[in-house]
Amino acid sequence: MEAILKTSISTITEKAIALVQQMTLDEKIGQMTQVEKNSLTPEDVRTYFIGSVLSGGGGNPTPNTINDWREMVEAFKASARQTRLGIPLIYGVDAVHGHNNVYGATIFPHNIGLGAAGDPELVKQIGRATAVEVAATGVRWNFAPAVSVPQDIRWGRTYEGYSEQTDLVNLMGAAYVEGLQGDLSAPTGVLASVKHYVGDGGTAWNSVSTYDWISMDLWNNLGNFPKWTLDQGQTIGDDAILRKRHLPPYRSAIEAGALNIMASYSSFEGEKCHASRYLLSEVLKEELQFEGFVVSDWMALDQLDRDFAQAVATSINAGMDMIMVPFDFKRFIDTTRQLVADGHIPISRIDDAVKRILIAKLALDLWNESADKPAFFDEVGSNSHRQLAREAVQKSQVLLKNNGVLPLSPGTSSILCAGQGLDDIGYQCGGWTIEWQGKTGPITLGTTILDGIKNHAQGMVERFDMDSSGSNFDVGLVAVAEIPYAEGEGDTDNLNLNEDQIKLIQEVRARVDKLVLLIISGRPLIITEVIDDCDAVVACWLPGSEGDAVADNLFGVTPYSGKLSYTWPAAMTDIANPQGAALFPVGHGLSG
Ligand code: GLC
Repeated sequence: MEAILKTSISTITEKAIALVQQMTLDEKIGQMTQVEKNSLTPEDVRTYFIGSVLSGGGGNPTPNTINDWREMVEAFKASARQTRLGIPLIYGVDAVHGHNNVYGATIFPHNIGLGAAGDPELVKQIGRATAVEVAATGVRWNFAPAVSVPQDIRWGRTYEGYSEQTDLVNLMGAAYVEGLQGDLSAPTGVLASVKHYVGDGGTAWNSVSTYDWISMDLWNNLGNFPKWTLDQGQTIGDDAILRKRHLPPYRSAIEAGALNIMASYSSFEGEKCHASRYLLSEVLKEELQFEGFVVSDWMALDQLDRDFAQAVATSINAGMDMIMVPFDFKRFIDTTRQLVADGHIPISRIDDAVKRILIAKLALDLWNESADKPAFFDEVGSNSHRQLAREAVQKSQVLLKNNGVLPLSPGTSSILCAGQGLDDIGYQCGGWTIEWQGKTGPITLGTTILDGIKNHAQGMVERFDMDSSGSNFDVGLVAVAEIPYAEGEGDTDNLNLNEDQIKLIQEVRARVDKLVLLIISGRPLIITEVIDDCDAVVACWLPGSEGDAVADNLFGVTPYSGKLSYTWPAAMTDIANPQGAALFPVGHGLSG
């Protein structure tokens, strides 16, 4: 199904071609350039005809308010309107589980939870609500959905994937694209960026390259790139496997109207996706007939070759249309201009790239955007969006085990609560929240799981600490959590509960009649060692800002309906192992 466009794609394409014919080479290259917002000024937008600006993870204005977001974005857009042709600028963000960089925005469950909910209509509604909050801040491009099909949960981006199963990812990815884009030309129409093309979730352990010519402090200011072991590695399998496992979600997303796709850092058959003419042009643009544009990932071209000019020529000639530079945009512009002058990039390729970018901008009707605050400005973090997020939390919980202890009676006389995941919004939200890597603590507005327990329980609720003297509680609730992470920072060979978590479970076990374990995580954790000590176990995933909704299921206000969209392994040796044992298989989830 084509994007819901007021104007047909063929008419839009004719307009785009006519506009390209009026453009100078510098105006064309400017449209192909995407720069991080701290690396340029609105004046630079005018001088270099910059077509797009982005906020990377945590790229927030100071103060981080909805109003300041809107003013920051509008300043760049206003400058673009003053260029010779007035081609509008498009601003992009990662709003991967709500407008997650913005303080006070609604934070929805990460995709692993939505996969467990298994409700495409819900995902479509989440896409629509996210679009309204994103567009309210002047942003019309969201680098989502990830349609990764993660095969190894040791990957730090597992939670960004809906499932290890391609069919479920097809369904959810397409639903999100339809919801987010809606009527693209309307003020709340937001361009999806389907990512990361292709095979990002199927890489082999320890297959990640390093690039001694790239300053890691520059790339991600974490400086520890070499420790990554799966993210951006080599995708396992041949063309048949790629087409069966990783490609279908892109076909579904294009049918749903996607007009942007982000390339993957990973490699296929030894070639970086960003350099692959086969993948970017022959498969995507010719075979799948993709009419939109491909954007690179953050500094991904720098990884292609020590010689930046060689890297740029390789990627653009392969089919890359817009380059997420994100820092030294002048180097990129000068390099590309010289490559065209020297005949290393044919002008026809430049014209095709710009045409594709303009097709998306025309579909969004950016020329008619108002600089005024929209009527929906106050819907950022609105009650109706938070209610939708609560529904998503309720539907995403997976009841793994239950010896009849759940649902709890509100009349339960004494409940002992423990664990760092119980009352910490940062743990609940995980990575890509306010900051790129996420952060523990009260990082944004919302409610905690403990808030929900206290709302429902009529008896005593005590917060356990090691000095607690109390014993003989009716029920113990222990919430173990993963410390927030994003991308390769989450790559790990250890998903076991740590000693403190195991000790806490044992301490609470000794004090309660029934014990319920809540797991706040971006993927299955190894719980085999403790499961016999637990009367019930719930996978809560990363529920987001509306954590109190976890308690709605605990107390039977809403039923458990979630089903695992990933295999839950019994031990680390079972992961990415065809003969591996599953503690719980895909599709497992008790009702009640
Ligand atoms: C990151 C991620 C990508 C994101 C982009 C912009 O490195 O790989 O998912 O959209 O950069 O933040």
